[in-house]
Amino acid sequence: MKYHARISGTGSAFPQKRVTNDDIAKKLAKLDIETSDAWVQSRTGIRELRYSDLQNPDEHNSSIGVAAAVKALDMAGKTPADINQIIYATCSPDTLIPSTACWLQHKIGAPHAWAMDINAACSGFVYGLATAEQFIRSGQTQTALVVGAEVLHPFMNWQDRSSCILFGDGAGAAIVERCDFESPRRILSSHLLSDGNLWELLYIPAGGSSMEVTPGRFSKNLHKMKMTGKDIFKVAVRTLTDFALRSLESNDMTIADLDWFAPHQANLRIIEAVAKRLNIPMEKVLINVDRYGNTSAATIPTVLDEAVRAGRIKAGQTVLMDCFGAGLTYGAILMRW
Ligand code: ACO
Repeated sequence: MKYHARISGTGSAFPQKRVTNDDIAKKLAKLDIETSDAWVQSRTGIRELRYSDLQNPDEHNSSIGVAAAVKALDMAGKTPADINQIIYATCSPDTLIPSTACWLQHKIGAPHAWAMDINAACSGFVYGLATAEQFIRSGQTQTALVVGAEVLHPFMNWQDRSSCILFGDGAGAAIVERCDFESPRRILSSHLLSDGNLWELLYIPAGGSSMEVTPGRFSKNLHKMKMTGKDIFKVAVRTLTDFALRSLESNDMTIADLDWFAPHQANLRIIEAVAKRLNIPMEKVLINVDRYGNTSAATIPTVLDEAVRAGRIKAGQTVLMDCFGAGLTYGAILMRW
């Protein structure tokens, strides 16, 4: 292979509406379900979420994806006409068909691109970035747009207080470009794995082709998210730690060589447990779960964009993106910014 790939621009966008833990507690109280800001903050680190206004087309999944993509293009000094490939990571698409990638293309332009969605739930952005990297390294793609975006709140089961408090809406994007094989600033490695045997830990039973949403199933909330949080917590801590070490070892690096750790933002306690196991000081860990909750495929690109725009991540520094998600899916990408 003659080329490597690097991220040359990042962007993020969130819907306007802020939803605090107190707002959710009030909503649940009407259903006779108890929760509190204190419980949610102490168990998850989340203070507030963002929710798209579903009546506003500018806040649909593909629209916040466009807003993030425009910022990433601007940082990279590119226009939509420069994009050859659009990869849209989401598990909450605008529509089942066409793909949200095609909706984004319709809204942004990009006449020279082919577009597809990837559903790896919260691992989606890392899976998308790894896919773009391979197309770039093979020489087929010069410039890719990778988006991780979700509008998840419509899939919350308000009868289940352990999951409905976690998920919010948002979008992150990256422009991924071909660079010289010798370039030091590039994606260094990607490692992906999934375990479909663990599908039951997080899924939405109805709404796909195997189970139509009928009035009976609707009334049982089978079109909403079902989660076994405690088991996911344990698997997440183990696999995030494993994939971080796998990434570093395959590059002959140690934790000391790592400048920034960008883990999936599902729960601050998961992130802290992993950082402790890896012996990474929390000052090196990028966090936005407190302000946005778990935005699934959007967590890693948004936390990355925040740190890049704040000038925290500097040229030549190493960044490890580490994820897990429904499927279950796992993965990590190590890059030098
Ligand atoms: N408010 C108040 N009490 C609650 C709430 C709530 N919102 N949710 C659960 N509880 C209660 C439980 O009912 C339980 O009560 P009990 O002891 O009387 O039975 C008690 O709190 C403890 O429940 P646990 O499940 O043990 O709480 P835990 O500390 O494990 O926290 C949580 C639950 C936050 C869900 C945690 O397990 C977690 O974050 N898991 C990971 C979830 C995750 O990452 N999901 C995303 C996957 S990524 C993707 O692809 C989308």
